[in-house]
Amino acid sequence: MKYILGAVAAFATASLAAPALEVAPRQASGCASPVTLTGNPFASKTLHPNNFYRAEVTAAAAAISDASLKASALKVANVGSFLWIDTIANIARIEPALKDVPCNNILGLVIYDLPGRDCAAKASNGELPVGSINRYKTEYIDPIVKLIKAHPNTAFALVIEPDSLPNLVTNANLATCQSSASGYREGVAYALKNLNLPNVIMYLDAGHGGWLGWDANLTPGAQELASAWKNAGSPAQLRGVSSNVAGWNAWIKTPGEFENTPDGKYNKAQDEKRYVQYFGAALAAAGMPNKFIVDTGRNAVQGLRLEWGDWCNVNGAGFGVRPTSNTGDAGVDAFVWVKPGGESDGTSDTSAVRYDSFCGKNDAYKPAPEAGTWNQAYFEMLLRNAKPAF
Ligand code: BGC
Repeated sequence: MKYILGAVAAFATASLAAPALEVAPRQASGCASPVTLTGNPFASKTLHPNNFYRAEVTAAAAAISDASLKASALKVANVGSFLWIDTIANIARIEPALKDVPCNNILGLVIYDLPGRDCAAKASNGELPVGSINRYKTEYIDPIVKLIKAHPNTAFALVIEPDSLPNLVTNANLATCQSSASGYREGVAYALKNLNLPNVIMYLDAGHGGWLGWDANLTPGAQELASAWKNAGSPAQLRGVSSNVAGWNAWIKTPGEFENTPDGKYNKAQDEKRYVQYFGAALAAAGMPNKFIVDTGRNAVQGLRLEWGDWCNVNGAGFGVRPTSNTGDAGVDAFVWVKPGGESDGTSDTSAVRYDSFCGKNDAYKPAPEAGTWNQAYFEMLLRNAKPAF
């Protein structure tokens, strides 16, 4: 009661005289008016260091006793990265992330919840079973569309469904990918069509050079992606594709890590720059926009993988080039951090339901927790091996 009286008194005073009490300005969020994105969004907007990864990194830094490593860790909190919306429940992470996005920033989100997700592996199998395409549309995509529409003054960059269409191109022999295929195609087209909003730029995931970069995969890969885009009504807010998401390939490396292996001659895309060139051309031929964003979050150290396809918690890795639109390649809008470094790719616990043998290989860091959960030791390793150093 006392508090309420005080508040009334303060209000009365303020309304009678010049305002005596000023409320501290809140940190700016969004722009003053609705955002319309055209061209390369990263040319004018910086990838936002989202509050979720900032909190993970801040907690990680607090757990480090070495003063100089702790100081380096805290710098990672200022690096922009994408926020993964990997379950329906995690849509709830978007609203808090929107609270402190300045007008010159762009919030990155990964759309990642297709029915039968991760059909060629086990570590990231999703919550929606094959066939639940209506749930994907109404309980996952539609609420995200609604949230984005409710924040027209904020800019969004979306990576659409990592690994999904590439899996249909190269893993069509697997029963799991066969049964996921129609849901992936319908779901991706639905996402592209409905997320085509003025304040959004989309990149459809295209795997990496060691995946769709093989000579025999370039055209089928580009056609698979292009048909999803066309089935969505050729949405204008799609700029092109994302590559190397959660991956390990170098931007430029000559010869490429696997270039001199016996089958190296069947793949001209031996680093991501060459992938941009060859897959970019295939996309153009298939009639689809072909600008790239390339994940450089964890590609600082090369020569670690036993085989090109090894994807799980690669041991010895380091944080790579920080997000920038200064790529030196007209085909690449930006280097970005899509995979939040420190979050696991999959568990090394052989008894877990989502245990994938790739996470037990000799080049995989162990022990490792479930995909998406924090691995403190791995984070510290990325930090020590970062190039450029923090
Ligand atoms: C996991 C997701 C996680 C993402 C980012 C994926 O491998 O399946 O749950 O959000 O990585 O760490």
